[in-house]
Amino acid sequence: MSISIDGVGGDGRLRVSPRDDAGREASRHWRRRIDARLAELVPPEDQAPSPLHQAMRYSLLAGGKRIRPVLAIQVATDLGASIEDVLDVACAVEMVHTASLILDDLPCMDDASLRRGRPANHLVFGEDTAILAATALLNRAFGVIAECDRLPAQTRIDLSRLLSESVGSHGIIAGQFCDLRIRHGHGDDVAGLTEMYGQKTGALFVAALEAGARVAQVEEPWVRAVREYAVNLGLAFQLLDDLLDTFGSSGDVGKDTRQDDGKSTLASRLGAHGARQEVHRYVESAASALEPLGSSGLQLANLARDYTHATMERVAAI
Ligand code: IPE
Ligand code: IPE
Ligand code: MG
Ligand code: MG
Ligand code: MG
Repeated sequence: MSISIDGVGGDGRLRVSPRDDAGREASRHWRRRIDARLAELVPPEDQAPSPLHQAMRYSLLAGGKRIRPVLAIQVATDLGASIEDVLDVACAVEMVHTASLILDDLPCMDDASLRRGRPANHLVFGEDTAILAATALLNRAFGVIAECDRLPAQTRIDLSRLLSESVGSHGIIAGQFCDLRIRHGHGDDVAGLTEMYGQKTGALFVAALEAGARVAQVEEPWVRAVREYAVNLGLAFQLLDDLLDTFGSSGDVGKDTRQDDGKSTLASRLGAHGARQEVHRYVESAASALEPLGSSGLQLANLARDYTHATMERVAAI
C-alpha cells in the first residue's frame, strides 16, 4: 500500500494515510494534457528543416514520466491558478528537461544507447542533429514562456530568469560538468555529490515548482516553502535514479542501467540501505517544508511520497 498524507494534525504536523485515487487520476489527466500540448508547441515533422523537427519531436513525445510538469501543475492549481494558466509553463520545463536528456546521452557525456524506451536521439539522427535538436528545445522553452499571454509581463520575466538560472552554469550545466569531473575522482564525497545532485537534478525541480507557485501569484513565504520542498524532492529523486541504475533493468526503466558502475554516486557512497534511508529522510523533509501551506500542500506531499514509495517498491521487487 502506498502512503501519503491526508491532513494536518493539531500539532501542525502532517499525518500519513493512503493516497487517494482522485490525486492519481488528476496526475494521469494532466500527463495527457501535457503530452497533447507539447505536440502543439513544437513545429510539425514535415516543416523544414524536417529532420531537425523530427529529432525534436522524437525525444519530446517519447513519453517519460512528466513528473516536473505535473509538479508545476499540482502546485499552481493547489494554490489557486487554473490549469490553463500553468500548462504552457509546465511544458517549457519539460522541454528543458528533454533537452538535458538528449545531451546527457551523447557519447561525450554518458554514452547511453536507450532513452524513454527508444534508441537514444543521437543513434537515430546523428550527434550533430541531436545537439541541435536539444539546443532548439531549450531555446523553444524560453519562447513558450514569452508567449504565455495569460500571465502578466512581470511574471513572464520572472519565469524566464528562473528557468535561465536553473539551466545555467550554477544549475543543470554546473551539475553535469561536475558529474563528468567527479568520475575522475574530484569532489566525490557525500557533500560534493549532494551539491552536484542539487544542481544537475534539483535545480529543475526548483524551477518547475517555483514557476507553478509564481503563476499562482502567492506570497514569498509560500514560494520559499515550495522551493525547500523542491530541493529535498530533487535529491530524493536523483538518489532513487541511482538505485534504479544499480538495481533496475533497462527493459523496466526504459534507459541504460549500470551506467554508474565504477563511478562515485551518492547511492554507492551511502550503500543501498543508507540510500533508501536518505530518500525517506529527504521526502519527509520535503513534506515538512510544506507545513506553512496547510491543507494546500497536502496533494504535493502526497505526490512526493507516492512516487517514492512506488519507486522503492520497484527497486525492492527486482
Ligand atoms: C531522468 O529524469 C534524469 C534524471 C534527472 C534522473 P526522469 O527520470 O524524470 O526521466 P523521464 O522524463 O521520465 O524520461
Ligand atoms: C542526469 O543524471 C541528470 C540530467 C541533468 C539529465 P543521470 O545521467 O543519472 O540521468 P539518467 O540516469 O541518464 O536519466
Ligand atoms: Mg548523466
Ligand atoms: Mg545519464
Ligand atoms: Mg541515472
